[in-house]
Amino acid sequence: MMMLIQPEKRIKELRALIDTFSYEYHMLDSPTVDDAVYDSLFSELKSLEVKYPELITTDSPTQRVGNELSGGFKKAEHSTRMLSLNDVFDKSEVESWVKRIDKLLPGRKHEFFADIKMDGLACALIYQDGLLVRAITRGNSFVGEDVTDNVRTIKNIPLRLRSTVGFEKFSIGRTEVRGEIVMLKKDFARLNKKRLAAGEPEFANPRNLAAGTIRQLDPKLVAARPLHFRAYDLLRDDSSEVPTNMSAYQTLSAIGITRNLEADIFTTLNGVMKFVDIWDKKRNELPFNTDGLVIKVNDRAQYVELGIVGKQPRAAVAYKYMAEKATTIVRDIVISLGRTGAATPVAVFNPVIVAGTTVQHASLHNADEIIRKDIRIGDTVVIFKAGDIIPQVDSVVLELRPKDSSMFDFEKALSEQLPEYKFERSEGEVVYRAKGMTGPILLARALQHFASKGALDIDTLGEKNVIALVESGLVNNLADIYSLRFEQVIKLDRFANISARKLVDAIQAAKKPTLERFIYGLGIRHVGIQTAIDLANRFESIKTLRVATIDDLQQVEGVGEVVAESIVAWFADPDNESLLRQFERFMVQPYFKKSSGKLLGMSFVVTGTLESMSREEVGNRVRALGGIFQSAVAKDTTYLVVGDKVGGSKLKKAQSYTVKIINELQLKEILGN
Ligand code: IVH
Repeated sequence: MMMLIQPEKRIKELRALIDTFSYEYHMLDSPTVDDAVYDSLFSELKSLEVKYPELITTDSPTQRVGNELSGGFKKAEHSTRMLSLNDVFDKSEVESWVKRIDKLLPGRKHEFFADIKMDGLACALIYQDGLLVRAITRGNSFVGEDVTDNVRTIKNIPLRLRSTVGFEKFSIGRTEVRGEIVMLKKDFARLNKKRLAAGEPEFANPRNLAAGTIRQLDPKLVAARPLHFRAYDLLRDDSSEVPTNMSAYQTLSAIGITRNLEADIFTTLNGVMKFVDIWDKKRNELPFNTDGLVIKVNDRAQYVELGIVGKQPRAAVAYKYMAEKATTIVRDIVISLGRTGAATPVAVFNPVIVAGTTVQHASLHNADEIIRKDIRIGDTVVIFKAGDIIPQVDSVVLELRPKDSSMFDFEKALSEQLPEYKFERSEGEVVYRAKGMTGPILLARALQHFASKGALDIDTLGEKNVIALVESGLVNNLADIYSLRFEQVIKLDRFANISARKLVDAIQAAKKPTLERFIYGLGIRHVGIQTAIDLANRFESIKTLRVATIDDLQQVEGVGEVVAESIVAWFADPDNESLLRQFERFMVQPYFKKSSGKLLGMSFVVTGTLESMSREEVGNRVRALGGIFQSAVAKDTTYLVVGDKVGGSKLKKAQSYTVKIINELQLKEILGN
């Protein structure tokens, strides 16, 4: 059962929840959810409003215009605007940024400068003749708040610049240092520990605390909270004194200002991307929180030349590391029957990007886990990537639960989705298993299907041979047959020299099946031969089929929601993932050939018995020529082939749909004999 969302209702609920989260974040300084969860819900609201602009209201959180100016502080104008940066999220976006620069500076070399992006609040420090005279927050980029008194309490900000040999001129005239005020992770932890001991509520995150602290009107309070400053920019009236961003950083160190020592210069995009990867892995080791990197053109004359678009300089971008959490809606919970007879529930989601890849399903492990987390169809859930690879459901956003939802009934779902099996759950076990369907029986069935005529067509792999192989333990999954060697097979009772050789050869000869036969052979629930053909035609490889979304799948003729979910659930099963890898290792390579058949776009139904061909044969030949073989007449059926002993219903239906009605002879002509 799929859940449809009603946009108007959803928008209303999202707004209310976002307002609550926003109040907790900004006013109470105690958010109850992760930033990524907030962002994810916010972007869902935004995209709904794009889709349904008539539902936008002036009080929607999306309509708030950013303005950080508040009362209480004197306003102060910036000497030059305090800009922000465009975000990029992957290598291709960095590449296009570099291409744009190349186009604007044709034939000119440029170096890149990269630094870690600190997650705090921006602040400009103005030194006059070496003395700190003013500190201004970013504000609206032109005008900020004068927070000089508070900034003076930050211990690593020098009240007087150091005058080092060679850098004396920076203590003459005006020197502006821009950077980020943060709270270091260790200070944040220590502060929270103290608060906990004193019975006070903990602060939620260092960035909020830093931002909230700097806006305190009482500097004594600020002094009690350990803030820290790291510079990323240096401005002088004579810009030639700071020719590159690297020289700015060297000067900052020389005049006693803290900056990141990790910053570096690169001549190639590859170099930059290596830096990106290194800090993606090591970012947790940094003393402060980061959400990415800043990449700039190193040469400051080029930087200026490249200009500004809107609020952002063209010469720099912020590379954002991916959020590892996101929210989405559970469309359905599909139960997948594993090789061992174990029933595993899989949640199917509206596709969402988490840590850089699209996620549309996650294993819910077992019935108890669903109860423990109380995950229901229609719920909005927070998902995260465990170990950065496998998506998991973290929790349910209860505020967005549909009013009419009910707890997921695992046993009912089993009987609805897998009616041909009976399930049992042994004492103390969490797993439901198909009764009497021990692993070997299920495997033998699956293998027989895999080897059957419509699938890989390995005729030496009949029922008895299959059972012998499974019982011997030589074959534990479908792909294992490709590892069978003559010496192993000959040892089994059933086989003699010739039969063992024949079996091994036949299996080895079946390493290049057509894609549709292979797909059909996998035994995915609800995927019959016609669906397999349609899937092959649409996706052209297992690789693309594997990552197809439910919506992609539903574009395929004859694939509805149930079939689409079943396919997604099959590929979501880790057993099946490793099975596919194993096929690859054994060089089993299904191939796809675009059907150039003359029956492309035509569909056939047979009613009654034909004299010279079985129904199966007709199906095979129609399909071989690119046509579709259907079991029932539909609106779009091209031909109904009428044989002997015809029942009336198909005929009547065909007549009402204006399907062409032909006899066996005419069929043979169409098929070409
Ligand atoms: S360079 C035009 N370097 O991130 C602004 N900014 O999204 C050039 N930030 O406004 C800024 N760490 O407040 C730069 N290492 C770093 C940074 C950094 C944090 C902040 C800064 C900036 C914002 C851009």
